[in-house]
Amino acid sequence: MAEPTEATTGRPSSAPPSAAPARGRPGGVLQKMGKGQITHVVAVGSGKGGVGKSSTTALLAAELRRRGLAVGLLDADVTGPSIPRLFGLSGPLVDKGEGIEASRSASGIPIVSSQFLVEDEQAPVIWRGPLVTRLIMQFFGGVNWGKLDYLLIDMPPGTSDVPLTVFQTIPIDGMVFVFTPQDLAAMIVKKAMNMARDLHVPLLGVVENMSYLSCPHCHERIPLFGAGSLDKIAGEYGVPVLGKVPVDPALSDAADHGRIEGYASPEIAAIAEAFLAAVAHQTSDALTTL
Ligand SMILES: Nc1ncnc2c1ncn2[C@@H]1O[C@H](COP(=O)(O)OP(=O)(O)OP(=O)(O)O)[C@@H](O)[C@H]1O
Ligand SMILES: [Mg+2]
Repeated sequence: MAEPTEATTGRPSSAPPSAAPARGRPGGVLQKMGKGQITHVVAVGSGKGGVGKSSTTALLAAELRRRGLAVGLLDADVTGPSIPRLFGLSGPLVDKGEGIEASRSASGIPIVSSQFLVEDEQAPVIWRGPLVTRLIMQFFGGVNWGKLDYLLIDMPPGTSDVPLTVFQTIPIDGMVFVFTPQDLAAMIVKKAMNMARDLHVPLLGVVENMSYLSCPHCHERIPLFGAGSLDKIAGEYGVPVLGKVPVDPALSDAADHGRIEGYASPEIAAIAEAFLAAVAHQTSDALTTL
């Protein structure tokens, strides 16, 4: 008989490290945890998968870090974690009894990911809902994040159980959405944006990835996937356009080789600028509401 898997036993294929108890009640009615010393918790989401959400999250984190900000990265894409690969990091995560120590990128970004809990990069994480909930809570409340200006969360794509868990347990201050110019991506991102809006998570802005290719010879912008509907969607939701990321083989190469932190461009710098302005605007709005 085949060995029982986590899917049948309810146990994780590799157990998460023990951590300081997360504030919240897995198994009961979920409640949001406190933010500790983190000033802004911002999630990055998408509707469809594969639109460059993790890359955008990583690039934004790296750019904010270059500006001297204290940034952390929580990879909440439990079943499809890609943040460690982008930064060239591997596990394991260590807990010396005082909470989980995040792994650190070359520029010092603390990062946690379910990828650090499996020995083999190809090993699937097959966990049932309650365990995923516990993991998400531990990754937020059980990690020694220290003092952070921004904790960015790479959300799983779509509107399934895991994003819902993140929304229900982590006190998210705002959310950025990434999509590509194709109609299908635009249509599906609206589902995710509506979910965030229904759960009262402020929408900070939208980013279009793979917007165009810059001709290496004449620098003309070639809209590979059409004109897209970035402005239209931003208008519909009353949120700012944070920017556009071109298709760039150098970005793909940096991502594949774990060197995404080394990739910088005027477009990414502009997105970081717009992001910081959107957070400042949202924070002042929140103060006015008080
Ligand atoms: N602007 C870009 N130019 C070139 N390659 C890109 C660009 N954006 C993303 N990629 C590449 O496309 C692939 C998918 O990107 P990424 O993993 O960031 O997408 P995702 O939306 O997070 O996917 P998933 O839904 O699987 O989490 C990666 O190999 C990445 O390097
Ligand atoms: Mg991803």
